[in-house]
Amino acid sequence: MKRIAILGSTGSVGVQTLDVIARFPDRFTVVGLTANSRSALLSEQIARFRPQIAAVMEERFAAELPNYHGRPSVRTGLEGLIDVVTHPEVDIVVSALPGSAGFLPTLRAIEAKKTIALANKEILVMAGEIVTAAARRAGVEILPVDSEHSAIHQCLAGQDRDRIHRIILTASGGPFLRTDPAHLTRMSPGEALAHPTWAMGRKVTIDSATLMNKGFEVLEAHWLFGLPFSRIDVVIHPQSIIHSMVEMEDGAILAQLGVPDMRLPIQYALAYPERLEAGWPRFDLRQTWQLTFQPPDREKFPCLDLAYRAGQAGHTLPAVLSAADEIAVSAFLEQEANFTQIPALIDEALSVYTRTYPSSTGNGLTLDDVMTADAWARTFCRERLHTGKT
Ligand SMILES: NC(=O)c1ccc[n+]([C@@H]2O[C@H](COP(=O)([O-])OP(=O)(O)OC[C@H]3O[C@@H](n4cnc5c(N)ncnc54)[C@H](OP(=O)(O)O)[C@@H]3O)[C@@H](O)[C@H]2O)c1
Repeated sequence: MKRIAILGSTGSVGVQTLDVIARFPDRFTVVGLTANSRSALLSEQIARFRPQIAAVMEERFAAELPNYHGRPSVRTGLEGLIDVVTHPEVDIVVSALPGSAGFLPTLRAIEAKKTIALANKEILVMAGEIVTAAARRAGVEILPVDSEHSAIHQCLAGQDRDRIHRIILTASGGPFLRTDPAHLTRMSPGEALAHPTWAMGRKVTIDSATLMNKGFEVLEAHWLFGLPFSRIDVVIHPQSIIHSMVEMEDGAILAQLGVPDMRLPIQYALAYPERLEAGWPRFDLRQTWQLTFQPPDREKFPCLDLAYRAGQAGHTLPAVLSAADEIAVSAFLEQEANFTQIPALIDEALSVYTRTYPSSTGNGLTLDDVMTADAWARTFCRERLHTGKT
């Protein structure tokens, strides 16, 4: 029996994780659940899965959670999230908060020697060096839940990792793949949230529309699979059937295919190294399919190159990238910025940070460096939005 805690159980990945767990009650059990503020949904989950411990970020929602003879033990705030993921009975932590919110709880879970099923890609973007070093020290596995990295993990089973030529991440291209670049400025949050192939949380859906999501995945792949950025490519594949590919030295390209359903990579990570039966429709090859590929339009979607730029510079620049993106996406969703201001604001944050702190490159990152860069980027972007200079 694998004992699981979910950081973000009320979100898109969290709900799908519980769906997988519910199908295999003899294999998985829920020990801990967390949410930000959706206490009604968290209450339903508590009633159904009866975890030992639960946490909400905001204290005022804690009183709304049900209690069955002292269970769950309810905690609040960041410390509460950490209590859930470090609970002694937890084996696997599904890390599924958006943005930087999940960073410290996930790091603490690694230090407590929990296996990590990682959806929260921003953690590796902002502090991949720290997180992967902590995992190595603790002897902990980080199993990817992101469908692209899960695909690569599956393709690499039994392969000699020294023989990888390159990783090819596939991207749907998002809702604006065919939109005239001149019209991007007036795209609304509603239009950007209408993803063609995946139903996901709001932040990752906007990141998919700007291609920052793919940029983040490039950094995530760099840390998970140890390849330089020059050997991680992106290709647009609008059907989202091939979830990513690995090209080996001899030219063979290995790919993982399947319907776009996050429950497959979630189940793969939870059951690893076993495989369990599918609880979703299979990819039906009796139908006629056209799988197409095209290079990304890097001028129309500058976020992709912003991510490569930050990743290649290393040190605290990826933390600036991630924090600036969080502020820019939130401003777009609140209609305080338009769609093309998202890359413009991030670009400006990266440039000003590099000019202000020219020695902040290379390796040797500390937690303090990351937190300071993150805070700098948030303040910078908020001020820029406030003064309307971007
Ligand atoms: N969704 C996907 O298909 C998918 C695929 C691949 C990777 N990912 C990655 O997985 C992560 C989660 O994505 P998602 O789509 O599942 O997000 P989501 O639907 O927005 O869910 C986020 C979850 O985190 C909680 N949360 C949000 N902000 C929080 C905070 N400040 N403190 C504590 N809890 C907080 C939410 O609680 P409330 O419900 O109470 O607000 C919810 O449970 C992201 O990094 C995303 O890039 C997602």
